Amino acid sequence: MKKKNPESAVLELRDVVKTYEMGNQKVHALSGVSLDIGENEYVAIMGPSGSGKSTLMNIIGCLDVPTSGSYSLGGEAVANKDESDLAEIRNRMIGFVFQTFNLIPRADILHNVELPLIYGGMAKAERRVRAERALEQVGLADRMRHKPNELSGGQRQRVAIARALVFNPSIILADEPTGNLDSRTGDEIMKMFDDLHADGQTIILVTHEDHIAAHAHRSIRLRDGKIESDILSSDELLSNSYLGPVPAEYEVGAANVG
Ligand SMILES: Nc1ncnc2c1ncn2[C@@H]1O[C@H](COP(=O)(O)OP(=O)(O)O)[C@@H](O)[C@H]1O
Ligand SMILES: [Mg+2]
Repeated sequence: MKKKNPESAVLELRDVVKTYEMGNQKVHALSGVSLDIGENEYVAIMGPSGSGKSTLMNIIGCLDVPTSGSYSLGGEAVANKDESDLAEIRNRMIGFVFQTFNLIPRADILHNVELPLIYGGMAKAERRVRAERALEQVGLADRMRHKPNELSGGQRQRVAIARALVFNPSIILADEPTGNLDSRTGDEIMKMFDDLHADGQTIILVTHEDHIAAHAHRSIRLRDGKIESDILSSDELLSNSYLGPVPAEYEVGAANVG
C-alpha cells in the first residue's frame, strides 16, 4: 500500500503549449495548459476528438516534450530532457495501458510483463519474481505460460496492467483502456483500476465515455487544446482527503446566485 499524500503534486504543467508544424501550417494541439495532479488522484481526461487528449497524455508520459512551457514529474523538470533521459524517466515513473493492449504476440505473458524490466537492466531472478507478483496482482497467476492470443480481451488488458505495474510506477496512464472491450469486461477492468487507486496508485485515464470517467474522482475536459473544465466528483469533495482549492462551481451558494 502506497502512502497517500494528496498535498504533494506528482506532476505540474505550466502554460504547456504543443504546436505541430505541418508544412507551413501550424497546428496548435495544446494552447497553454496548466495543471497539477497529486499523489493518489484518479483523473479522467475527456474531450472531443482533436481536443488534445493524446498530446497531453504523450507529454505527461514523457513520450513527447512541450513546444513551450514547463513540466515537472516527481519534482524533476522534464521539458528540456533529451530522448534517453526521457526514456529513463518514463521507465521509472510511468506505467502505460493502451486501448489495443500492445502485447508481444509470440511471447508468453510472463515474458511480456518482464520486458520493461529487461530494458531497465534488472537481474533475471528479480525480474521473474516481480513479473510473477504483478501477474498475481491482476489474477493471472495460473496463465503465465499462455500467449496473448490464448487469452480473452479482458485478460489481455489485465496482462497490460500487470506490465504497467511491474516497475511500481508513480503514475498509471491509460488511454481508452476499455475502448476495445465489451461493457461487462470493461467494467471488470475499471474495477481493477478502482482497486489500484484504493491501494494508493495515482491513475490518469483518457476516455470519451461518461460512465468510465465516473470511476475517476476528478474529470478534466479539454477543448481546442485548452482546459475547459476541471471538476471533482461530489464524493471527493465531501471527503476531507482533498485539500486543494474548491472549483467555483462547487462553492456554497454558487448554484443559487440570481
Ligand atoms: N503528430 C502530429 N502532427 C500534426 N498534428 C498533430 C499530430 N498529433 C496531433 N496533431 C493534431 O493536434 C490536435 C490534437 O490532437 P490529439 O492530441 O491527438 O487529440 P485527441 O487525442 O483529443 O483526439 C489535432 O488537431 C491533431 O490533428
Ligand atoms: Mg487521441
